[in-house]
This record gives sequence, C-alpha cells and structure tokens, in this order.
Amino acid sequence: MFTKKFILASLVVLSFFSAISQQIKFVASPNGNVKVNFILTEKGEPQYEAFYKNKPIILPSSLGFELKEIFGDKIFQPLNKNLLIVRVDTSSYNESWQPVWGDRKEIADNHHTLTIKLKQQSSDALELNIVFKVFDDGFGFRYEFPKQPNLTHFIVIEENTSFHLNGNHKAFWIPGDFDSNEYPPSITNLSDVDALSITSTNPEIAVKTPVNANTVQTPLMLKTADGIYINIHEAALVNYPAMNLEINKSSYNLSAVLVPDAVGNKAYLQAPATTPWRTIIVSDKATDILASKIILNLNEPSVIKNTSWIKPTKFMGVWWEMFIGKGTWDYASGKHAANTANVKKYIDFASKHKFDAILVEGWNVGWEDWFGQWKEKVFDFVTPYPDFNVKELQQYAKSKNVKIIMHHETSGSASNYERQMDTAYRFMKQFGYDAVKTGYVGKIIPRGEHHDGQTMVNHYVHVAQKTAQFQIMLDAHEPVRPTGLQRTYPNWLACEAGRGMEFNAFSKGNNPNHETIMPFTRMMGGPMDFTPGIFQMDLSYWDKTKTQKVHTTIAKQLALYVVFCSPLQMAADLPESYEKHLDAFQFIKDVAVDWDDSKYLEAEPGEYITTARKAKKKDTWFVGAITNEKARQTTIALNFLDKNKKYKATIYADAKDADWQTNPQAYQITTITVDSNTVLPLSLAASGGCAISIVSIK
Ligand code: NOJ
Ligand code: CA
Repeated sequence: MFTKKFILASLVVLSFFSAISQQIKFVASPNGNVKVNFILTEKGEPQYEAFYKNKPIILPSSLGFELKEIFGDKIFQPLNKNLLIVRVDTSSYNESWQPVWGDRKEIADNHHTLTIKLKQQSSDALELNIVFKVFDDGFGFRYEFPKQPNLTHFIVIEENTSFHLNGNHKAFWIPGDFDSNEYPPSITNLSDVDALSITSTNPEIAVKTPVNANTVQTPLMLKTADGIYINIHEAALVNYPAMNLEINKSSYNLSAVLVPDAVGNKAYLQAPATTPWRTIIVSDKATDILASKIILNLNEPSVIKNTSWIKPTKFMGVWWEMFIGKGTWDYASGKHAANTANVKKYIDFASKHKFDAILVEGWNVGWEDWFGQWKEKVFDFVTPYPDFNVKELQQYAKSKNVKIIMHHETSGSASNYERQMDTAYRFMKQFGYDAVKTGYVGKIIPRGEHHDGQTMVNHYVHVAQKTAQFQIMLDAHEPVRPTGLQRTYPNWLACEAGRGMEFNAFSKGNNPNHETIMPFTRMMGGPMDFTPGIFQMDLSYWDKTKTQKVHTTIAKQLALYVVFCSPLQMAADLPESYEKHLDAFQFIKDVAVDWDDSKYLEAEPGEYITTARKAKKKDTWFVGAITNEKARQTTIALNFLDKNKKYKATIYADAKDADWQTNPQAYQITTITVDSNTVLPLSLAASGGCAISIVSIK
C-alpha cells in the first residue's frame, strides 16, 4: 500500500484589519480536472465555486450559518458575513484502504485538502473552519466549529450552503420531504420540478412531510446540456439533520433546507463540532458517477476492529407472501404467515438452495394495531405469537445451516425501541439470530420529530453502534437516506430508504426506468435492501382482486443482483415461483454478494446500465445489464477477463418475444465459451435485462 501524507503549504494570514478586496484561495484535484475556489467577498462573505475540466459547474455559492444560544436567547452575529481569513492550510493525501465488503477489495483515496480558518471581526468573535477535499471526480466540503470561548452550546437556525448551478440542467429527483424517500423518481429540467405534484399523486406513502413545490432530496443527479454529469449529496451524516435542496427556478441556485426538529430548530451542537460533508461528484462519463468513492472516502474508517463476524448475506423471507395477500403479519386474521410450520418450509427451501438466511416478519405480538394508531408502545421485540416457536425454529434452522433474520418493526416509536434495545438484542443472541431488519413505518414518536431530523439521525447511528456491540448485522427500513456510514459501521449492511420492490405490490408500481435511476440517486450513499428477484410479475395470479404487475422481465430481475451493489440481497419471491423456473433461479443461487472488483461498462441515468463484477476471492465474474421501457441492442467487450484463461459464460437473456407488459416471464439461457477477446452482443427487451455468470474453466 502506498501511503503519502504531507503538508504542501501552510499560510498564516493573521489580519486585524477588515477585508478590503475579494480574496480567493484555490485548490485543484490531483490530476487537475476538478478545481475549487474559496472566495471571501469584500463584505467578508464566504463563498465557493468549482470547475470541471475548466468549465464552471458551481458558480459562486454561499456558505455559512445563522446560530443562536441553546441556554439563552442570544442570536449570534450571522456566520456568513464580516469574516476574516485567519489561516489557510493545504495538504495532499494518497492512500488506499480495504473495505470489509463492497464493490472492490481496495479503494484509493487520492485528494488535495484546503482548510480555511475564519473569524468574525468583533470583540466576541466566533470562529468557523471550512474544509474542502478535492478528488479527480469531484469534491466534498464541511464546516468545523472549533473549540472557542464565545461559542459552546448552540442551535443551527439556518445553514446558508448553496449550490449555484450554471444552467437549467436535466434533473433526476424525488420531492423534498422530512419523512419519506419512497417516491418514484422524476426526470425534468430544474425549472420544471413540481415536487408537490408527486407527493399528492402517491397516496400510498402514508407518512410524508413535503417541503414545497421547488424542493427536492439528495442524492440529486443532474446532467448539463453539454453532457456533464453532476451528483449532489452528503457524506457522514452524523448528529445533524439531512439536507434537502430548494431550487431557485430563475437562477438555478439550490439552497440547503435542513430537516427541522419538533420546534423548528435544525441542529443542536456543542463545539467542537463538524457538519456532514456536502458532496459534488462530477464527470463527463455517467459510469464514473457510479464508480465514485468520494462519499466512502469522506467517511471515517471502521470503528469495529474485529469484523470476522460480518458476513455478506443472501436471503429469502416470509415476506412477499404478505404483500400478495397470501398471508398476514398479524395473528387475528387467521392467515398468520410466521407460523412454525410455514417458517420450516422456507428454511427447507433456503437450505436446499444454499441461502444463508431467511427473514421472518410478523413473528412478534403487536401487528393487530401497529400502523395508523401512532401508539407509543406497540412491540416489545421478545414476545412471539403463540404459533411461532422460537426455540424449535432456532434448532431447526441450525440443523439446516440457515440463519433466521430478526425483524424489529418499531412502528415509528423510536424512543420505545431505544428503551427495549438491550433486551431485544440479548434475546436475539440467546436464540441464535445475528442480523436484524429494523423498520420505521409511521409518524415518529416522540411526536413532531421527523425521520430525517437530527434526533432520528442519531437514533439510526445509535442502533448501528449498539448492534455492533452485540455483533449483530443491521438492515434499516425507512431510515434517513445513507451517506456512506457503512464504512464506519460495516455491520450496517444495507438500508431501504427508498422506493423498493414492495411498491409494485400496493401502488401504481415502479416505472420501467426506475432501476436505471436508483444507482445514480438513492444508491450513491450506500447499499439498498431493494429486494429483487420477483418471477411472478402478474400479482393477480395470487389474488384475483389485485391489478398490480411488476414492471420488468425476469431477465431484468436477475440482472439487478449485479447492477445493484449490496452485501445483503434477497430472493424476494415465494419458493413456488422459483420452483417453476429453477433454471433461471440458478443465477440467483450463483451470484455473489461481495466483490473483488467492479467495472461500470455503460450507463445513462433513466435509460440503461451495464455492470460487470468479480466475485470476492473467486475467478468468477457476473454481468448485469438493464434497460428502461425501450428495448436495447448493445455489445460488451469482456476485456476485463484474465488474458490467459478460458471461461464458461451462462447467459440469462430475454427471449425474442419477451416484453415487460405482454410477456415478462420469457427468457432463454445459453452457454458459451468466452475469453478476454470476446465481444458479446446483448439484446434486451422493453424493460428487460441480461444476466451473465462467467466461470473460469480449470
Ligand atoms: C415496510 C418495509 O419496507 C417492509 O419491508 C416491511 O415488510 C413492512 N414495512 C413491515 O415492517
Ligand atoms: Ca418501506
């Protein structure tokens, strides 16, 4: 490993006079493609601007804060004007590190840093540092409140960060919202964003707090008229609320809108404190956005020293059958799915097909009144329904070499969960569970807090820390959107935090372009428990009253296991659906969930993505290609394969007559010998895909 860390320059500018002219401090990325200027205007206002290959991507944009005391009424002089530069430091860093799991075994972190130390011009002056880290594919910046005499405990009333774009870019967006990110993505120019039209036409999102018509969430994916891709998000969201972005439709300036708490404050901090990093990833290739490691590199290294118990997991679940109406979570219905006999059937199937685990939902009492009543105490996480035999299932699962994944639906009652956590995790350990899926459906209790505010952000991190203490892996549903914290807490395998497969079962469903957008938006921050693998697309097959359909072909479902990178992947359909297509199911059985390397071969957000990944510690590659509602012909060069080897490729393709609307279950499987010179033609049906496993021939 190559390690280099040195200070390039250090400049002390101590000045006791007010700034008279604008000052600019400059930093460029290692290869010079990305350049950032920190600007202090004549009025002492902090700003920044950025360039990619010498083209402006961010015009001069505001920075700073409005703050007030926590213990008192004092409103501080705003930290966005009358500032002086006290000191400027630059440094450079080039090192690589090994993630516990992920899309590659080694991650390079090569960046230049610019640190600006600012101070107000008054006798009780406040101090603020702004740190920029600039990489070849973008940059991040964050604020630091150093320890200082005049600012100890304080409230953030407003963060003045903005992102002033240089045009009416094409945007891939979901509405700004303090409680939900389960909206379908829209594609419009910035000037045509109408967030409320989306919040009002998705009634099945029961708990939502839309901001206004002009506000969107991050990760926000953008494309400029001259073909530059820009992604705006944040990294290391800890002890701070999530950021939405309000669009000024005439200037294309996007302003940070932090999620407030119950009384409208944004954040409560104690100096020294830091904010999350604001990230801007940029490239003229869409595939570079997918490959970017900026967000992970801006997070802290793992705090877990011994990670041997953290295992990427492929699982099935007593789950989809509740969405299609076959069973229920609750016991009173008479169709309780999580009964011992049914769970054993899933264990048998999972064991036969060598899955690591099964998720069982609806095992504990409380589901009769979990949702819509906003009760504080619904679940206790240790009391099973009478037909769910914890001990017997523990022994049965163990004898079949399958783990059971625990389910903790909190029903939004986060404070109740915090009180129960130790007991719940001890119960898990006692009965052999080593992974938990949490859920936050409902309004957050304590009342008035939002899913994405500082209190809940701290809650999710607390759960990651607490589960780590118990050596438990975590999958959080309905949390705030991920920001790369899986580097720091690698037991936090995945989050939902977006619109997953389940929406196909109870809404208008996900559009055919959905899966070609998610890697550029929601998945920029981390893996998603999307739950692919549905083979029975027409849900009226299960329940005559259901009109919903899954809007893809089977081959596309298979390809999602490669296109979506996650160490936690579900085969979401029922065993009986797989029994009918065991030849296609073979791909789900074979596909890896942890990788040595990834190649992002071709991509256009909203249209198509083709990705190849090499399985961890194996000479096996997997390829996934997906398209939107347009059928697609393409070719892929297998030049990533080892030059001296032959491989057997098994190609799971859409059949000639496959189509997401009329013939979604038609696929064909062929086997050929390939090597690094092979160029493979791929033919994808409308909302179709192609999945390939490539195994070296000994
Ligand atoms: C919503 C989650 O996304 C889903 O996976 C879960 O089954 C239900 N809540 C019940 O907890
Ligand atoms: Ca959900």
